[in-house]
Amino acid sequence: MTLKDVQKTYEVYGKEDPLYAVLSRKDAKDNKWDADEFFATGRDEIADAMNHLARLGLEVNKGRAMDFGCGVGRLTQALCEEFGEAVGIDISYSMIENAEKYNKFGDRCEFRVNTTDDLAQLDDASFDFVYSNISLQHSPPEASSKYIAEFFRVLRPGGVALFQVPSGPRHEPGSFGAKIYAIKRGPLRRFWKRIRGMPPVEIHYVNQSLVEEIIKASGGRLIDATQRGSVRGSRVSMLYCAIRE
Ligand SMILES: C[S@@+](CC[C@H](N)C(=O)[O-])C[C@H]1O[C@@H](n2cnc3c(N)ncnc32)[C@H](O)[C@@H]1O
Repeated sequence: MTLKDVQKTYEVYGKEDPLYAVLSRKDAKDNKWDADEFFATGRDEIADAMNHLARLGLEVNKGRAMDFGCGVGRLTQALCEEFGEAVGIDISYSMIENAEKYNKFGDRCEFRVNTTDDLAQLDDASFDFVYSNISLQHSPPEASSKYIAEFFRVLRPGGVALFQVPSGPRHEPGSFGAKIYAIKRGPLRRFWKRIRGMPPVEIHYVNQSLVEEIIKASGGRLIDATQRGSVRGSRVSMLYCAIRE
């Protein structure tokens, strides 16, 4: 699946069932999420994130935050309650349209579409905090690796990145393992989903040691890597916290 395919999928979801596409709670399918309840989950998540930073002994400047893969702004709006400004970035125009519709923070909460595998539209050293949850995993690993590097370019020195991405076996580009991975995660999974009548959302991983190398090579210092949730096959969800040096 290319980034174009990811965008296409989320353009459809953003039009048809945007809140369910973000948080797939069974009883909320077919536009049955109560919007207040939905956005409350974002405030709880960001409160947890702030507690996590406090437990790690980190103090974040509360100026400007970025929410990568923001969807309808569930977490971007919650970040606005903590930070002076928040910018939500998403690959899907329809998701961003919804985010703007739900926005209660006016100009303090900005939403932008980004369809490339970098964040070139964002200036160097322009954020104090970068947050991302359940979003990097939908892009091909080459793209999510680039986004992670970009997080450290757009952070100011002393800024903090807190992001989730699943980990799994490491595949060197071009290796036999990488080829098998591409087939298993790509066409096979899409076919399996289609015959079950489900849209082709893919979940990818980036091996933990690779994430740690990217952080270091991009001027970051890893503070913490914590396992989140259950292990699925060879995959485990990880939450990384790193400072821009
Ligand atoms: C499951 S939703 C999560 C939204 C948000 N992080 C939240 O938890 O409320 C995944 C979002 O990531 C976005 N996304 C997927 N790939 C992306 C990419 N390469 N760049 C930006 N956004 C992306 C999708 O459009 C979708 O809105």
